[in-house]
Amino acid sequence: MKNVGLIGWRGMVGSVLMQRMSEERDFDAIRPVFFSTSQHGQAAPTVGGQNGTLQDAYDIDALKALDIIITCQGGDYTSEIYPKLRASGWQGYWIDAASTLRMKDDAIIILDPVNHQVIRQGLDKGIKTFVGGNCTVSLMLMSLGGLFAHDLVEWASVATYQAASGGGARHMRELLTQMGMLHNHVAQELQNPASAILDIERKVTELTRSGTLPTDNFGVPLAGSLIPWIDKQLENGQSREEWKGQAETNKILGTQQTIPVDGLCVRIGALRCHSQAFTLKLKKDVPLAEIEQILAAHNEWVKVVPNDRELTMRELSPAAVTGTLSTPVGRLRKLNMGPDYLSAFTVGDQLLWGAAEPLRRMLRLLVD
Ligand code: HSE
Repeated sequence: MKNVGLIGWRGMVGSVLMQRMSEERDFDAIRPVFFSTSQHGQAAPTVGGQNGTLQDAYDIDALKALDIIITCQGGDYTSEIYPKLRASGWQGYWIDAASTLRMKDDAIIILDPVNHQVIRQGLDKGIKTFVGGNCTVSLMLMSLGGLFAHDLVEWASVATYQAASGGGARHMRELLTQMGMLHNHVAQELQNPASAILDIERKVTELTRSGTLPTDNFGVPLAGSLIPWIDKQLENGQSREEWKGQAETNKILGTQQTIPVDGLCVRIGALRCHSQAFTLKLKKDVPLAEIEQILAAHNEWVKVVPNDRELTMRELSPAAVTGTLSTPVGRLRKLNMGPDYLSAFTVGDQLLWGAAEPLRRMLRLLVD
């Protein structure tokens, strides 16, 4: 059995990874070694009949003894440790949730239901570094993978509706705290059906603008509002999140000719599901029924939601999808622009297919 080091397993993505690994009995197939950046020497979790102490995540010799490392510790850790470990001659497999190494030539972005072949070819070539994709990109490809696999997409334009969890655990807390404060501020008035809604709205807006809501993480209030900017500002006017759309999609698919992907990335007050509205320019006019069939057949997690009001409201929302591996796509219809123009709306849990799931599946590809 392979010695597998787990780093950053206590954080939000790491906790989801641990839960999924337990559910799928991944620990039965490996010898896990748990690391910590701050609490080495303390008791490690008991999984798969193993127990022991937490190892030091900065101890290069301890890391060198591993066949495989999975890290959800974040980009700073990867930047510090990965070069040292490789420089020491370590030849093991590095599986990473952070974006640091994603675009390196000797790294592959992992999303095996979409790019199993790219991963296999990489393994054959001796690639040892595998990195999870940006969550919006991975979730788009899980939902729309069939159209890309059939080479039907000329370009994709997207507007995202990204959940607080994409920022991190503290961002989720901040959003919920803001929501609670806004509600408390007008709770009394809300109980009185005779109170004027515009008075309630005015009080909420005043509090939102008062500077008293906690905004350390998002920078501005998100509850009852939105933020049309995610990640850093680039010189061309894109946000870094928007830049990733095209760069990572094409790297995951291993395209010879770049498929343009661009749009606007927006943070909204959902907790952990990212939604995305697409305008797709198809390479040819394909009947809608055939499109639905192609999409549905691509992988076992995508589900085509018929373009029906009731079904859409019930099944195509963060509330319906959160905590599941389902990556539904709906609102499929040809647009007024012409028969080659398709609309689509996708939803997916950004902590599952958007973060943890591709990592544990890569591990299985290495140990099974
Ligand atoms: N960058 C994404 C977001 C999350 O902020 O929603 C991780 O891919």
